[in-house]
Amino acid sequence: MTTPGANLTYGFTGDYVREFIEKESVRRQSNKVLHGHPSPLYWKALESPIEELLDERLGYGMKARHEVNLYVGTPFCIKTKPARCGFCLFPSEDYEGNKGVEAYLDYLKREFDMYKPFYSSDTLTSIYFGGGTPNLYRPEHYGRVMQLVDNLYGGIPSDIEITLEGIPQLFNEEKIKAISEAGFNRVSMGVQQLNDNLIKYSGRRQTREQVFNALENCHKYDLANSLDLIYGWPEQTIDNMLEDLQTAVDAGVHHITHYELNIAGRSDFAAPSKRALLPSIETNIEMYHASKELLLNAGFEQVTVYDWRRVPIKDQSARLSSYDYEHNMHNFVAKDPEASKTTLKQVCGIGFAAVNFHANSLDDGDRNWIYMNQTSLKEYCADIDSGRFPIGRGFMYSPHDVKLAWLFQSMQTMKINFVQYMENFNENLLDSYSAIWEELDRRNWIKVGESELQFIGDGQYYIPMIQSLIASRRLAEIRATRKQKLNNIDVVVE
Ligand SMILES: C[S@@+](CC[C@H](N)C(=O)[O-])C[C@H]1O[C@@H](n2cnc3c(N)ncnc32)[C@H](O)[C@@H]1O
Ligand code: SF4
Repeated sequence: MTTPGANLTYGFTGDYVREFIEKESVRRQSNKVLHGHPSPLYWKALESPIEELLDERLGYGMKARHEVNLYVGTPFCIKTKPARCGFCLFPSEDYEGNKGVEAYLDYLKREFDMYKPFYSSDTLTSIYFGGGTPNLYRPEHYGRVMQLVDNLYGGIPSDIEITLEGIPQLFNEEKIKAISEAGFNRVSMGVQQLNDNLIKYSGRRQTREQVFNALENCHKYDLANSLDLIYGWPEQTIDNMLEDLQTAVDAGVHHITHYELNIAGRSDFAAPSKRALLPSIETNIEMYHASKELLLNAGFEQVTVYDWRRVPIKDQSARLSSYDYEHNMHNFVAKDPEASKTTLKQVCGIGFAAVNFHANSLDDGDRNWIYMNQTSLKEYCADIDSGRFPIGRGFMYSPHDVKLAWLFQSMQTMKINFVQYMENFNENLLDSYSAIWEELDRRNWIKVGESELQFIGDGQYYIPMIQSLIASRRLAEIRATRKQKLNNIDVVVE
C-alpha cells in the first residue's frame, strides 16, 4: 500500500533513461494502440476460472454499476497476396464464403448467451464491431448482430456511438443502408493508402474511387465516418502522404486515424526486400509533423498521437467526429465530483480475438484483469462446443500495472494530468519518474504545467517509446518472476 503522496522512483536513473532512449529512438517505433500495458506477449492462461472472476466483477458492479464499451469481434478477411494485406498484425481468418459467416454468427450468439448472467446489468457507453472485416456480412446480418447486443443488455441506449468497421470496396449502398437501418451510426473504413499504385503492396483490390463512393454512401445515410490511413508505407513520399490526407479532408470525412506503419514478425512488410523500400525513421518523423500541420490547417483537432477529428462546423453534431469507443478509455478512472463517486470504465469483448479489460477497484489487494478470446476460429468454436468461455490468455494486474495501464491510456492523448494521477493513486507522478522527465525536458519533448505534463515536438512522435520506457522496469520484473518460476525457485518479485 502506498502512503499518502508517496514517492516511488521505480529504479529509474539518468544513465538508464539516456541509454534506453539512445538505443530505442533509432529503431522503428510501434504504437500501443491495441492493448496498452502490458503487451499480450506477457499474457498467459488465466490463473482463476473465468466464472469466478466474472462473479467477483458482479460484486463490484453492485457497488458501482459498470460503464462499458462493448467490442464485438469478426474473424474473416478477404484473402490477399501477400497474406493479411502484407502489413496487418491483427488476428484474422480467410473468408471462404457466407456459410462460414452463418456458422460463426451462431457461435457468437452462444457466446452472448454465456455472458447473460454476468453482463446484463452493465451500462453501455459505446459499441464497436471490429475485426477482421465485419462489412463482409450480408445486409440481413446487421440487424441480427445488433439484436444480440439488445438481448444481452435488455436494450441499447439511443444516444451512444455504434461503429462498424470495414474495407471501402464492401461499403456499397445496399450495405450502408442496411447498416444504418440496423442502428449503427458510425462507420470506420480501413483505407490505409489512397494511392492506387502504392496500395498494391498490400495485395488489396481497392481503388480510391471506391473510397469516395463509400464515403458518399455514408453521407447519404447520415453515418458518421472515419478513415484509417497508414504513413511510412513502402515507397511513400511526404508528398504522396499529404495528397492522401488532403483528398480525405476534401471528401468531407469526419475523423481520420493516421497510424505510423508498424512492422513486426511475420508480416510481408517486415521482409528485407520490403524493409528496403520503407521511408527512414527521420522521414517518418517529418511525416508526423507535416501531417499534423496539414490537418490543423484544415480545421482538424488532434485528439491522440494518431487520431484527428474535424472540428464541427455550423450546426453539425459533435457526435459525428467523435470516437467514444477509444476516447472513453483515455481516463478510465472517472470521478463524479458531485456524488464523490469513482467509476472505473471497462471494455467487454465478445467474439473472435475480442479483449475484455476489467479494472474493478483501485484499492490494493483488489483484482483487476485483462483477457483475450481465442485467436484461432477452430479453438474459439471448440471452446464454445465444450461449454467453456472461448478465452485464450489474459493478465492479472498488480497495483503497479493498473497505474501503468492508466498512464499508457493518458499518454495516447499526449498529456498526463498529474493532479488526477495523485487523486487516483495517491502518488506523485513528477517525483516517481523524475529521471525520465528530466531527460525528456532536456530534449524539449515535454512541457510541465500546473496540473498537466504535455508531450511536445518529437516527444509526441516518440510517445510509444516513452510508454515502453516507463513500463520497462516492471516488464523486467515480470520476465524475472517467470524465469524464477520456471526454474522452480520460490522467489516472488513484488
Ligand atoms: C484490425 S484493422 C481492421 C480494419 C479493416 N479490416 C481494414 O483492413 O481496414 C484496424 C486498423 O489497424 C491498422 N493497422 C493494422 N495493421 C497495422 C500496421 N501494421 N501498422 C499500422 N496500422 C495497422 C489499420 O489502419 C487498420 O485499419
Ligand atoms: S488489414 Fe483489415 S482486411 Fe487486411 S488482414 Fe488486417 S483486418 Fe483483414
